[in-house]
Amino acid sequence: HMSAADKAKYFAARQAATYVKSGMKVGLGTGSTAEWLVKCLGEMVRDEGLQIQGVPTSERTGALARQVGIKVITLDAAQRLDITIDGTDEYDPDLCLIKGGGGAHLREKIVAAASDRMVVIADESKTVDTLGAFPLPVEVIPFGMRTTEALIAAALVDLDVAARDITLRMAGDAPYVSDEGNHIFDLHLKRIGDARKLSQALNQIPGVVENGLFIDICKVIVVGHDNGRVTVT
Ligand code: A5P
Repeated sequence: HMSAADKAKYFAARQAATYVKSGMKVGLGTGSTAEWLVKCLGEMVRDEGLQIQGVPTSERTGALARQVGIKVITLDAAQRLDITIDGTDEYDPDLCLIKGGGGAHLREKIVAAASDRMVVIADESKTVDTLGAFPLPVEVIPFGMRTTEALIAAALVDLDVAARDITLRMAGDAPYVSDEGNHIFDLHLKRIGDARKLSQALNQIPGVVENGLFIDICKVIVVGHDNGRVTVT
């Protein structure tokens, strides 16, 4: 009774789990696809004697990792990771990503950047020619966030971005709060022309902590299909 999308995510996760070997320090992503990965690794720990140390990218993933028997350590204890495996919201032909639909892109980017390689697991629905149909998450500190929002809006005008609606992410009646205690603006841009330029412009704004563009970070994308086929890009 798994949905077609769940099957595709599971097959991608199962394939990527084979990249993980005993002795490795592994970054554990966040989201529904990454959850399959954590479960697969948990099975390998239990049934195949796999010995790994995991660095979760969110409180949610940390709780699941412990629950399935993966030894969890902090990034500062690990310092460098052999591999990070994570999901994505979009990926383009250059393997640039939009992440943060689950609100975890800040820790995800820190963990991915500390890893020898980042492997993304996805189903076909995540592939795009041009990034931007998925709203771009921008994490901001709560202090002065409306001022920060105005600076983000001005940066989008400067960059000649045509569609530039900005919404504050909510959790019910209150602003969504990330694991780091911050809020998230979602930028509805439809098409992102120059992702590199946009990412740099956003991260230069005081109050912006991190945006959801991952550029030159992901090395491999493992795409699962519901029939069990897996393609590696
Ligand atoms: C979490 O902040 C995100 O970056 C996730 O990796 C992304 O939203 C993918 O989630 P799903 O696997 O649930 O689509």
